[in-house]
Amino acid sequence: MSKRIAIIQGHPDPAPERLCRALADAYARGAARGGHEVKRIDVAALDFPLLRSQVEFERGGPPPAIAQAQETLRWADHWVMVYPIWLGDAPALFKGFIEQTFRPGFALRYRDGRIPYGLLKGKTARVIATMGMPSLVYRFFFFAHGLRNLKRNVLNYAGVSPVRETLIGSTRGMLPETAEKWLTSIEALGREGR
Ligand SMILES: Cc1cc2nc3c(=O)[nH]c(=O)nc-3n(C[C@H](O)[C@H](O)[C@H](O)COP(=O)(O)O)c2cc1C
Repeated sequence: MSKRIAIIQGHPDPAPERLCRALADAYARGAARGGHEVKRIDVAALDFPLLRSQVEFERGGPPPAIAQAQETLRWADHWVMVYPIWLGDAPALFKGFIEQTFRPGFALRYRDGRIPYGLLKGKTARVIATMGMPSLVYRFFFFAHGLRNLKRNVLNYAGVSPVRETLIGSTRGMLPETAEKWLTSIEALGREGR
């Protein structure tokens, strides 16, 4: 079944040689081959400030670049988020984007003014995170804290489920053939729209 897919590039560095950029391109290539419709959000290219207050979070209108990203996210059935692990978590720019985007009214609404419910039910996601350490170390020594927070506290909470993950470790000095294998498997996921 053909899907509408949003690829969210969370790498702050626009340099095309970044692995995250090659991974997003591979996913997009596969998705196009699989007959899916793709729209892309490149967080590094968006102009938005950091969120500064709860009042702004709950009552302020999002800046235009964020409103446009929200429209793309609402349009899509499936989201693919790609980012590198920086200091154990997603880069600050990507987190700034998440804070700006996942506001009440877009991600949540409060029933009786208190009890939150997710507005994004029916959507699914995949998180692709790259890191210098072996991915098993991130998963079993650090318990993948940052990733679990994004999955549960942000995405599941807003109704996005299931959220699948691909962790790509040992990126420093990765052999070209290893990188190629990853790109091939990410392209296959794109073709399946998964
Ligand atoms: C500011 C910064 C912090 C980083 N922190 C970590 C870290 O905590 N753990 C880790 O395994 N790798 C860390 N790395 C390595 C990156 O995760 C790695 O370079 C990246 O995933 C490679 O993908 P890229 O080519 O798309 O940047 C860090 C890199 C930078 C630039």
